[in-house]
Amino acid sequence: MNKNLQFIDRRDFLKRSALGAAGLALAPSLLAKAQANGKLRIAQIGLGAMGMEDLKAIASHSLVEVVALCDVDSRAIDNAKKLYPQAKTFGDYRVLLKELEDDIDAVVVSTPDHTHAPASLMAMKMDKAVYCQKPLTHHVSEAREMKKVAEKKGLVTQMGIQVHSFYDYKLATLLIQSGIIGKVHAVRAWSPKNWGFDGPEPTGSDPIPEGLDWNLWLGTAPERPFKEGYYHPGNWRKVMDFGCGTLGDMGVHIFDTPYNALELDVPRTIRNECRQPTGFGFPEHNVVTYEFPSTPFTAETLTWVWYDGPGAPSDHPDLQLPNGDQLPDQGAMFMGEKGRLLLPHFMQLPRLIVDGQYKEMDIAQFNLGEPVKDYAEESKKHYHEFVDACLGKTECSAPFSYSARLTETILLGVIAGRFPNQTLNWDSKKARFAEKEANKFLKGKYRKF
Ligand SMILES: NC(=O)c1ccc[n+]([C@@H]2O[C@H](COP(=O)([O-])OP(=O)(O)OC[C@H]3O[C@@H](n4cnc5c(N)ncnc54)[C@H](O)[C@@H]3O)[C@@H](O)[C@H]2O)c1
Repeated sequence: MNKNLQFIDRRDFLKRSALGAAGLALAPSLLAKAQANGKLRIAQIGLGAMGMEDLKAIASHSLVEVVALCDVDSRAIDNAKKLYPQAKTFGDYRVLLKELEDDIDAVVVSTPDHTHAPASLMAMKMDKAVYCQKPLTHHVSEAREMKKVAEKKGLVTQMGIQVHSFYDYKLATLLIQSGIIGKVHAVRAWSPKNWGFDGPEPTGSDPIPEGLDWNLWLGTAPERPFKEGYYHPGNWRKVMDFGCGTLGDMGVHIFDTPYNALELDVPRTIRNECRQPTGFGFPEHNVVTYEFPSTPFTAETLTWVWYDGPGAPSDHPDLQLPNGDQLPDQGAMFMGEKGRLLLPHFMQLPRLIVDGQYKEMDIAQFNLGEPVKDYAEESKKHYHEFVDACLGKTECSAPFSYSARLTETILLGVIAGRFPNQTLNWDSKKARFAEKEANKFLKGKYRKF
């Protein structure tokens, strides 16, 4: 145990800080002392493109100590070790967690999607606080399990949707909830990214790159040969056994504000217009339509339509901008009874459109301060919020109690891609589709590795 925190059990402390204001009221002197002296000891699992961003952002908090680094590719470890030479290094997160159980307080999980839940749940069962990348999980069953464990243990958790803490996204939430466009009946959101793959599954195998432990990379997923350019790094997003396609990758960010602002919970129906499944990659083009029951901020039904793939979105009158302006590359448009609100993804202010014209908005009323123009600075907020929550100073804004529901909603649309052009009916209480054949995709079968 860190000697600065020996006056309280660190696990109790991290759990209690999840209670936010209540926790602060319970033990202000202990918390104040911890804040003054204690450092949050972090293990970073996954050191690829985003893992390095996560690591640098979280370590930029003055009360963070990077204790351990883990990746199944030794080249990634070598790279990270240059920045944090004092950290212990591991190839297997299971070994890390067992060996350092008493020496770490929190883990950051930045692996491919299929490993989010296995690594996070192991850490959570050891009472560690967890910052896990988006989408929270690969399967609906895993999202439910992570939410359940986090809530039962009262752990501090945050999903890596850093834009959730950005000025523009917060502003859009406040604007929608202020009723600026009245009750919202539809949201259209789009990303032209292509994390799909319409080709066939590759045959044969390529030599496994030196330093990569392919068995550990596969983890709980079914065994398959290594093929250069198909999986590691990055391209695993396109493959059903490991990623969640473009909807899973970008939808979690872009749907976050509508989901949050409109206080959506569980969709009633989901339909994905896309090609027939190949059993290997996700479709390269998807149009996914969700219907949600009403909330205080919506009309009787809320329709959410997602467009992805090259060329997305296709033309729709709802997406026409004043003066023939071009739509931002990625974003969301809210349609309400009094007008439309455009929310570009990201670092651009939302725009109000009424009767086909842009309209000025009084944003000073929300006391959000000045918009932040520096992406790196703006990104740090979400990580620092997690650290501060672990230290009992605040609460996380995207804890698993919220982000597991958001992820589940996104994953239902991913599953609908296996049943093209068919409307699926979701029963959240039973965690079942009415269409029985879809239920087998709610859960994965873990391989022993
Ligand atoms: N929030 C964002 O803006 C954002 C942006 C990009 C990626 N992401 C998310 O970050 C995660 C990682 O994406 P990426 O682009 O860095 O992928 P990547 O393929 O570049 O990196 C993944 C890293 O994890 C390592 N890894 C794989 N299995 C591991 C295991 N069992 N234990 C430890 N390390 C393991 C790989 O070797 C690799 O270095 C994904 O979930 C992705 O959705 C989030």
